[in-house]
Amino acid sequence: MSVAHQTDDEQTKLWNGHSGRAWVETQQVLDQMFKPLEDLLVEAVSAGSGHRVLDVGCGTGSTTLAVARLLGEKGRCVGIDISEPMLTAARARAEREDTPASFIHANAQDHAFEPASFDMVISRFGVMFFGDFVRAFANLRRAARDDAELRFVAWRSPSENPFMTTAERAAAPLLPNLPARRPDAPGQFAFADQRRVHRILEESGWDEIDIRPIDVACTLPEKGLVRYLTRLGPLGLILHEADDRTRTQVIETVRAAFEPYVHGAEVRFTAACWMVGARAPSAPAEPKDAASA
Ligand SMILES: C[S@@+](CC[C@H](N)C(=O)[O-])C[C@H]1O[C@@H](n2cnc3c(N)ncnc32)[C@H](O)[C@@H]1O
Repeated sequence: MSVAHQTDDEQTKLWNGHSGRAWVETQQVLDQMFKPLEDLLVEAVSAGSGHRVLDVGCGTGSTTLAVARLLGEKGRCVGIDISEPMLTAARARAEREDTPASFIHANAQDHAFEPASFDMVISRFGVMFFGDFVRAFANLRRAARDDAELRFVAWRSPSENPFMTTAERAAAPLLPNLPARRPDAPGQFAFADQRRVHRILEESGWDEIDIRPIDVACTLPEKGLVRYLTRLGPLGLILHEADDRTRTQVIETVRAAFEPYVHGAEVRFTAACWMVGARAPSAPAEPKDAASA
């Protein structure tokens, strides 16, 4: 995942550059890892009555396509993302599978959605990267019809997700230039603080906010582990800059640090996340504060 970066420009650059390519290259491993979270979102769509679903930060499209398959001809699922490489992969996948999902290449924070055009807005890890969170969620509120449901999954804190930070902790002594994560800046753990998420949603005009901790068992194949740990996160961002000797040493050290998670051919870990729900009020409340969160 991307580490913390401040500006929209930086996020656009990351997701159209290193991070976007890393997600495309690791797509199969990541989709297996996060399938249980996708299933929870698909269940939420299935339990609701919405037929027009927006998937924010849809990436390579696994969740968008799963929802589109569920809705079939009686609905539609649209994915929006700022990453061209990830959307190219998503579109190719939709075509290959002959699943009628559609995709928008734009920044969800500012995109001029048709007002009230979605019954439900969902996201798997795609809403923690905005430069201005209140503005982004107010924009999503406008895209949603009155009474529409918002439902997304976001990471809790790094300390509750040791698997996610194993690589950088193990590599730090060997790579002094590893970029540090900045709490609260756009990035993987920007929504770690439940009160902050609540405040952002309230200020952007959402109602019935419900934020629950979920601990979800996830797996990936052991043979995909080195690819995963060398491409993603802070380590993935800078490992290619290291000389061959350091690179080999880092990979050996980091792979050893993951040993407690390896069970034969399978790697197992728990994803400590928030399942966030909210509703678009029937009489839309104006956003209370347009300032950045
Ligand atoms: C961690 S990935 C998750 C991708 C996908 N939801 C999944 O679970 O496979 C975050 C995604 O959010 C997208 N993203 C980041 N900022 C965005 C923005 N402002 N508007 C739309 N998409 C954004 C990235 O390009 C990336 O695809």
